[in-house]
Amino acid sequence: VMWVYCTRKMEFTKQLIRKELAEFEAFFAQYLQGHGGILDTILKYLVRQKGKKMRPMFVLLSAKLGGEINQATFRAASLVELLHTATLVHDDVVDNAMERRGIFSINALWKNKIAVLVGDFLLSKGLLLSVDHGDYSALQTLSLAVKKMSEGELLQLEKARSINLNEEIYFTIIRGKTASLLASSCMAGAQTTMADAEKCNLLYQFGEAVGMAFQIRDDLFDYDDNTAGKPIGLDIREKKITLPLLYALNNASTVDKKKLLHTVKKNTKSNEEIQWIVQEAHRLGGVAYATETMHNFKKQALHLLHSFPENDARKALEELVLFTIDRKN
Ligand code: IPE
Ligand code: IPE
Ligand code: MG
Ligand code: MG
Repeated sequence: VMWVYCTRKMEFTKQLIRKELAEFEAFFAQYLQGHGGILDTILKYLVRQKGKKMRPMFVLLSAKLGGEINQATFRAASLVELLHTATLVHDDVVDNAMERRGIFSINALWKNKIAVLVGDFLLSKGLLLSVDHGDYSALQTLSLAVKKMSEGELLQLEKARSINLNEEIYFTIIRGKTASLLASSCMAGAQTTMADAEKCNLLYQFGEAVGMAFQIRDDLFDYDDNTAGKPIGLDIREKKITLPLLYALNNASTVDKKKLLHTVKKNTKSNEEIQWIVQEAHRLGGVAYATETMHNFKKQALHLLHSFPENDARKALEELVLFTIDRKN
């Protein structure tokens, strides 16, 4: 039988690690149970949400690439998803975002004070899970990611609305806020089955390249006219300049650039103005350029992955890379 797998649904991956993913989900849900009071309500709300669980998949498959998934792998996957969830809860406070995963964000329902504390709680649960089991390499690998994510988010606040933003700074921002966690996820997974530090470092590089492509895909959603999930123009509305617009600004005539910047900088923008900025980003080649850049990171990721021998785990990781740039949410 010839199977044609659908990348957009991650069918090969989901079939390959079906049992492991189910075990991870059960552990994750159980680990956040029974804290009582308002925590129980909020954590239940979070656990019920349908995040894509991409980082745990990267952990499980990176481990499987060089050996057998074990209990330390499940803990690493949980640590990663706990940190990811904590940073999303905090990010929505920072961005003043009312929606996450298609429903109300924690700050929208319970306000900022509670969201900040719930984020801290999730972070501490992740740390304790590792400390309690002596998973010190996972702890080190992921602590590095948390540090880099905070630096990336801070750099973004400092620079992403500035006319001095350039590509180098943009890449530094997304490497910090997004790619570092994917990199550390792959490395932490590998560390649970591979003794060879060289191989673990290779998986870090791989995850970082995937993460760069992942964030560019995310930034491109703002300029997609036909995405099902997200409304367009959210970044533009909050004056956040990402790669499509950055390239457009740098390749516009002086007059066009001035007009474009003026509209971007307006505190309130009509739907027509948002639409116009999106059109300009397309017309000036910014969307095409960002798409091409994303594909280059994808190629880099696949190239790194191909230094490992071909097996099912490698094939599934390939599928995850393709999903990263193909996804619709
Ligand atoms: C969202 O990550 C945050 C970014 C780094 C852009 P995901 O898109 O992986 O979030 P969920 O977990 O699937 O909701
Ligand atoms: C996501 O960043 C959060 C982190 C990477 C920590 P963004 O603010 O760019 O993404 P969304 O749109 O909220 O998911
Ligand atoms: Mg955000
Ligand atoms: Mg943000």
